[in-house]
Amino acid sequence: MVSISINEVTKTFGEVMAVDEISIDIEEGELFTLLGPSGCGKTTLLRVIAGFYHPDHGQIFFDEEDITKLPPHKRDTGMVFQNYAIWPHMKVFDNVAFGLEIRKVPSAEVRKRVEAVLEAVRLGGFGERTPYQLSGGQQQRVALARALVINPKVLLLDEPLSNLDAKLRVEMRHELIRIQKEFGTTTVYVTHDQEEALSISDRVAVINLGRVMQVDNPRDIYSDPHNLFVADFIGSCTFIPGSIISVDGGAISIKTPWGLPLEGRCTRTDVTFNKGDEVFCAIRPEDFKVQTPSSPHNDIPTKISSVVFTGRYNQVYADVGGTQRVQAELDAESKLKRGDTLTLHVLHKDTIILPVKDDLFAPRIQEIILGGAAAD
Ligand SMILES: Nc1ncnc2c1ncn2[C@@H]1O[C@H](COP(=O)(O)OP(=O)(O)OP(=O)(O)O)[C@@H](O)[C@H]1O
Ligand SMILES: [Mg+2]
Repeated sequence: MVSISINEVTKTFGEVMAVDEISIDIEEGELFTLLGPSGCGKTTLLRVIAGFYHPDHGQIFFDEEDITKLPPHKRDTGMVFQNYAIWPHMKVFDNVAFGLEIRKVPSAEVRKRVEAVLEAVRLGGFGERTPYQLSGGQQQRVALARALVINPKVLLLDEPLSNLDAKLRVEMRHELIRIQKEFGTTTVYVTHDQEEALSISDRVAVINLGRVMQVDNPRDIYSDPHNLFVADFIGSCTFIPGSIISVDGGAISIKTPWGLPLEGRCTRTDVTFNKGDEVFCAIRPEDFKVQTPSSPHNDIPTKISSVVFTGRYNQVYADVGGTQRVQAELDAESKLKRGDTLTLHVLHKDTIILPVKDDLFAPRIQEIILGGAAAD
């Protein structure tokens, strides 16, 4: 097992800055995910780690060894490419055996290792089939077996579940975690699917425009977004514009457009707020509750504009003060309807306060808020 150090890596294609000074340390045995929207540089970074692209600046280390100049075949990585291809004319066995044969592994050992790895991906006995006799999920597992069979130091997986239907994708997450933990191979996983990233990863790097926005474990990425991009990209949030009234230790009080204060917390240690600073509050839909007499403060007086029953909860859009819309997931039992007035509340710990200054994503959040308020 190795650790991977990505040190200030930059990669441009002509005018396009695909990877912009990215530094990430990945621990040995970790399942580490690069998550971000299409075009943010995930595949480019993975190809730099594999050695298919040379970075303009920066280095890649496997443990202490600088491998930046090492050609791909000397890096000991197994890769499943985006839009994976297993060779359609070759049997499953030969597809998987190929990597060992070019490494001149004796044929008795090839047979043993291929059979063992097919067993591990639950394709024991499928060796004689051709790919067109397999389902999408089985083909995906052949691609994974082909990457694993060489016992790579590092496994690089680029959207390996992208060609599967939704149900199979979810099943394959469990398989992937099982296989990765069984082999213990340090793995870099690329996806643009935030739910997939949160569900399979030990840690996630959220990437936008070639830059790292946040590196954390899935739980913290979800509950403690460090900036507006992460709050918006992962799950969904209602954003409320405000300005700082006071800061008292961890408790931050902000002025809202409808006049009542909201109390929240900051997820960043590198930010200090001053009175009057512009901020956005980010609140998850499941954190809004219907106010009861015993609820703590952070009251939000709303008027319901629409209710959609989804089975598990009511998805409620509600307007506040004429300029703001909140999106809440409320108890499916409650009888709510359009036009009702309803006071919501949200706990201080669930009200994330993020600075506007220096956040390039702030204009986009402003648009989202205006778009919500302008609807119907
Ligand atoms: N070989 C190339 N030549 C020129 N530009 C490229 C090349 N490869 C990637 N790019 C550009 O670099 C940027 C990052 O591309 P990359 O493929 O790394 O994105 P990605 O995050 O993997 O996206 P996706 O989720 O769509 O696969 C994009 O703007 C892309 O158009
Ligand atoms: Mg890609």
